[in-house]
Amino acid sequence: MNILIKNAVLVDPVEGTERQEDILIQNERIAAIGTCLQADGAQVIDAAGCCAAPGLVDIHVHLREPGFEYKETIASGCAAAARGGVTSVACMPNTRPVIDTPELVRMVREKAACGIHVFPIAAVSVGQGGETLTDASALKAAGAPALSDDGVPVQSALLVRQALLAAGQLGMPVLSHCEDAGLVGNYAVNEGEISRKLGIPGRPAVAEELMAMRDAMLAEETGASVHICHVSTANTVEIVRQFKRRGVSITCETCPQYFTLTQEAILTHGAMARVNPPLRTERDRAAVLEGLRDGTIDAIVTDHAPHSAEEKARPLTEAPSGMVGLETSLALSLTALYHKGHMSLPAVIAAMTVKPAKILGLSKGTLQVGGSADLVLFNPDEEWVIDPARFVSKGRNTPFGGFKVKGKVNATIADGAMIYREG
Ligand code: DOR
Ligand code: ZN
Ligand code: ZN
Repeated sequence: MNILIKNAVLVDPVEGTERQEDILIQNERIAAIGTCLQADGAQVIDAAGCCAAPGLVDIHVHLREPGFEYKETIASGCAAAARGGVTSVACMPNTRPVIDTPELVRMVREKAACGIHVFPIAAVSVGQGGETLTDASALKAAGAPALSDDGVPVQSALLVRQALLAAGQLGMPVLSHCEDAGLVGNYAVNEGEISRKLGIPGRPAVAEELMAMRDAMLAEETGASVHICHVSTANTVEIVRQFKRRGVSITCETCPQYFTLTQEAILTHGAMARVNPPLRTERDRAAVLEGLRDGTIDAIVTDHAPHSAEEKARPLTEAPSGMVGLETSLALSLTALYHKGHMSLPAVIAAMTVKPAKILGLSKGTLQVGGSADLVLFNPDEEWVIDPARFVSKGRNTPFGGFKVKGKVNATIADGAMIYREG
């Protein structure tokens, strides 16, 4: 089926422009972009008042399969992506078993559903055990674009250095989920005012910053590429800024929760606001925002981390960390960054499309004639209230329930097929 999208404002994250154009999709590809396009027999979508952008590319998602299908399956996670305007996801290997072999990488890819492009990130160490390196070359050949031990970050500098050397030769980045294990224990919140108020131990910001500094230095020394996952503190932003200035191959991401919320959210939302790394202070939130504005922070991701209702109903200190994000990331980003005047629309879209795609070397995240037809149509000004009961993800764990946001996904197209349409 050919699709002709009429009268959309095309948000181009590469050119940094917004301009009214028609878009013609034929045979899974973008056949033409221009004014007053015609196409006999095509399905015509009148997108007046809407923006068209490349389908979002979320490079930090937990799909939970295999092993934790009660939290999410690859299929339910892909459906959530489609509803959120996301057409490509890179999923983390902290499943059971851990994604640490080429067979498992292939298995996850084959289960991709709803037309979503799924790129499995493979583990750095066997079983995320932090001791033995996986086979980077075989994992890459199977389709893994990067290596990460995600929330069980490699504590040994020796192993990280070896991983950077191995992955670096293959042009693969290592994704580092920075927190020093000894400093953070299994604690629930940021160390500071809120942890003291609650009388519980906390996760200090320096636990993140130490590891970010270690991995930045190892990237400089090895010449390999490191990517710092969901930056949450002012000092981490500054570390990345300085190492970028020195020409080191370092990139980083953050999530809507870190530029929207602060640690105080724990007091109102309890375990729903528990996430690793934890929500921080207002000063950190402002620094993350500034990092996005000046380009120090390359990408916005979700760290979509579904958990069951029962798990999140446990007391704060016993509930698992993480929140879902695929169905709310565009709205939260537009609300906090674009509508508040901090970033232009193309700049926000770039941080959610072409820039994350580039980090993983994926040919995604742009809208070009001849390129694949992955698109999101959204109304940047439509207001709505986040209602977790309507999520198609199995996870309903979000602190953003009841939040009024501005920016709504109307339709998502992947490889030329309509994979989500509102209503
Ligand atoms: O909050 C988090 N949730 N942080 C992690 O590092 C892991 C993730 C999960 O898998 O639930
Ligand atoms: Zn995480
Ligand atoms: Zn994660």
